[in-house]
Amino acid sequence: MLCLGIETSCDETALALVRDGVVIADVMSSQADVHALFGGVVPELASREHYRLIGALCDEVLRRAGVTAADIDVVAVARGPGLLGSLLVGMGFAKGLALTTGARLVGVNHLHAHLLAAGIAAEMAYPALGLLVSGGHTHIYRMESPRHMPLLGRTLDDAAGEAFDKVAKQLGLAYPGGRTIDELGRKGRVNPTMFPRPYVDNDNLDFSFSGLKTAAGLVVQANPALIKAARAVATGSALSADASHVDGTEPDSALPDISDLYDMCASFNHAVADTLRIKLERALVRENGPLPGAPAAPARKKRKKSGMVAVAAAQAASPEQAAPAADAGQGGPAPNPHRAPVRALVAAGGVAANSYVREALGDLARRAGLPLLLPSPALCTDNGIMVAHAGWRLASLGLGHGLALEAIPRGRSIPDDFTMFRSV
Ligand code: KG4
Ligand code: ZN
Repeated sequence: MLCLGIETSCDETALALVRDGVVIADVMSSQADVHALFGGVVPELASREHYRLIGALCDEVLRRAGVTAADIDVVAVARGPGLLGSLLVGMGFAKGLALTTGARLVGVNHLHAHLLAAGIAAEMAYPALGLLVSGGHTHIYRMESPRHMPLLGRTLDDAAGEAFDKVAKQLGLAYPGGRTIDELGRKGRVNPTMFPRPYVDNDNLDFSFSGLKTAAGLVVQANPALIKAARAVATGSALSADASHVDGTEPDSALPDISDLYDMCASFNHAVADTLRIKLERALVRENGPLPGAPAAPARKKRKKSGMVAVAAAQAASPEQAAPAADAGQGGPAPNPHRAPVRALVAAGGVAANSYVREALGDLARRAGLPLLLPSPALCTDNGIMVAHAGWRLASLGLGHGLALEAIPRGRSIPDDFTMFRSV
């Protein structure tokens, strides 16, 4: 079965071909440079760019694979969530192709496609617990199958990726800044009390990163030297500051002290990774019961407001006040004995490319004695391969859509409105 995947939900126009689960070609054009000028994605520009490029990219992916449009059995397209105008470009193209070639149309949930990408290089084990961490979403799913993924916890405000991008913007770093903050952090030392673990002091599996973003903003405001250091990084003059940092020679007094920036980034990465780990561990305990060798649940204090907690913690003078919650929520409802225990942990989406997140989740998986399935860093961020792969999985189950398939913008949940067809 030859499946073409089309991804246009945000600022990447990406197409890929998968034959019986094997990737045979992929192409991608990122609009990051266009949007970097404005510090974030401009929806109108994004859809125009998709429209300008999609035809040429389709020709190119077919050429690279040595096939023609008539060879395609399945056209899979990301139907949402995303920017509506951008989704409509991909959807219109996919429908036209399906109509003219007779290929099966499959509308793919972009978030599910991210998670399913963890099953490209490794065998997916169902049920799995899936953490989706992207620019717009921080969700925990129980993955029952490629089709059924009940949502256990969700983003209440800023997603983890948004927090990365906004902090990078405050530092004056280019959009999207998550990867840069990851890389800068690797050169620094983590101060575990610099930032709070936002919204963990509760009983739920939801996420709120706006407090952490505010806390980081306060640190940047209070230390303008961080912005100077970030500018030095962006212009390349940080290289000489780096050299003196590494070899211990006297730093050039004209250059800002870059090590504070590295340490701040290291601490921010660590706070995000630890928060994700805490909530995923809590979800795992609810599904499977306490982790092997876990201590008894500590008593939790009640607090009022997550945003205030974050700001207060950032401003707190004593380490005790700002100390991260070690609690992974061993309490909460007991596991449902009628539900099969989860067999694997999965993490995907742009922020799952983060080295601190990968380490923290790796540690959790080791303690839990479960495999951790992660797409390669390149397949964590938006790409066409994940859509083609998800489309192939769904079509293999006999699933597809008619031409009435709807695009779903961000904020609306994706309906499970598949039609059953014969297996392709
Ligand atoms: O999944 P994705 O490509 O697009 C969405 O579906 O949103 O995720 C993009 C997000 C951006 O916020 C970007 O800054 C973040 O993923 N990101 C990272 C890293 N690589 C990409 N965040 C932290 N560390 C990284 N290494
Ligand atoms: Zn995405």
